Amino acid sequence: MDPTNSAWPGERETEHGQNSTAKVPGAARNNKQDQEKLSGVVKSVHRKLRRKYREVGDFEKIWREHCEDEETLSEYALAMKNLADNHWAKTCEGEGRIEWCRSVCQEYFLDGGMKKVLEKDEKTARLSNPLSSAASPCTPPYQSNGPHRLNVQNGRIRLLDVGSCFNPFLKFDEFLTVGIDIVPAVESVYKCDFLNLQLQPPLQLEREAVDTFLLQLRSPIDALPAELFHVVVFSLLLSYFPSPYQRWICCKKAHELLALHGLLLIITPDSSHQNRHAPMMASWRIAVETLGFKRYKYVKFSHMHLLAFRKVSLKTSSDLVSRNYPEMMYIPQDFNGVEEEECWDTPPAPPRSCLEDEQLACGFLELPDAPYDSDSGESQSGSTHCQEREDPILLQS
Ligand SMILES: C[S@@+](CC[C@H](N)C(=O)[O-])C[C@H]1O[C@@H](n2cnc3c(N)ncnc32)[C@H](O)[C@@H]1O
Repeated sequence: MDPTNSAWPGERETEHGQNSTAKVPGAARNNKQDQEKLSGVVKSVHRKLRRKYREVGDFEKIWREHCEDEETLSEYALAMKNLADNHWAKTCEGEGRIEWCRSVCQEYFLDGGMKKVLEKDEKTARLSNPLSSAASPCTPPYQSNGPHRLNVQNGRIRLLDVGSCFNPFLKFDEFLTVGIDIVPAVESVYKCDFLNLQLQPPLQLEREAVDTFLLQLRSPIDALPAELFHVVVFSLLLSYFPSPYQRWICCKKAHELLALHGLLLIITPDSSHQNRHAPMMASWRIAVETLGFKRYKYVKFSHMHLLAFRKVSLKTSSDLVSRNYPEMMYIPQDFNGVEEEECWDTPPAPPRSCLEDEQLACGFLELPDAPYDSDSGESQSGSTHCQEREDPILLQS
């Protein structure tokens, strides 16, 4: 495994596998050492989970034991908060992911982004089936009724931040933020294991009443009504899990919790260069889209992928597990005996040029639409293209 290919934000091993601390003088060195120590705590938890999963295989048992290990979890929560407060906040990389989420939401909900894509959907639907004028899943939200109706123009955007840790979205007024975590690092985050969260029927309430419901939530949260949120955020959450199935279950739950046309924002660490893991991202895209989402945006920062999907249908197909879709949410570490050797301690990789950025974004945008993507109206040649990449997971599916 390339040791640099799964680095955490702001961290990278040098070419020779050496720690970069030796090159940094004085206070900066202490700062680096502190950061290394904190990231070491975080990485060791991820590592331990993955090792156990490889050895034992039963992720439910491992997860139960993990959630009972309060000492390790508290240490992790403190380390994460400390990293975010005292290290990543000073680099645009760490803070950038939260700002990116915010700007995508603003553009989509407040600046006409949603209206634009829905009109495009409608046009595509009309072109592919000129005889049908019936309301499709693309019915503009302001025309649809029921619990899934989505209108945030006059209110706050209801945002569920899963694995919130230190509640980074709380400071933004445009969000009514609900942060949940197995081990909250701050009081405003509710204790909740998202993997075991129960889903209830949607609330049949007016917007103000739904907001009141959210403001009255109390820890621990064991259940939530479906179709409750406009946005669900998984920031650095999915790679925490040792099994692709757990990542997929989270996306499925996000789908259920989102109102129609809501956004799922996924940020996942990867310090490798550009298109190195494009097949992995294509695979994730297929797995997520089959749940009833459609890709909205994709960006690669030096140390992470940032993806936005919009919920385009209320239902998901029922046979997704048997068709291997959960396995498609893999990460490089799933396949390696070598543990995460990533260091996050050298300066971030040199910034990409605008051209490189564009090429990368195009790489993702041009990744084939899945054959089942009835919404896109695109051909099935996409799956062949994926298979040409000889990705075993894609071939399996
Ligand atoms: C790497 S931290 C990310 C923190 C924050 N979202 C960020 O972007 O900095 C991952 C967080 O996910 C939390 N987490 C892991 N599994 C979870 C689950 N099943 N339900 C809720 N939170 C979970 C962990 O406790 C941890 O705080």
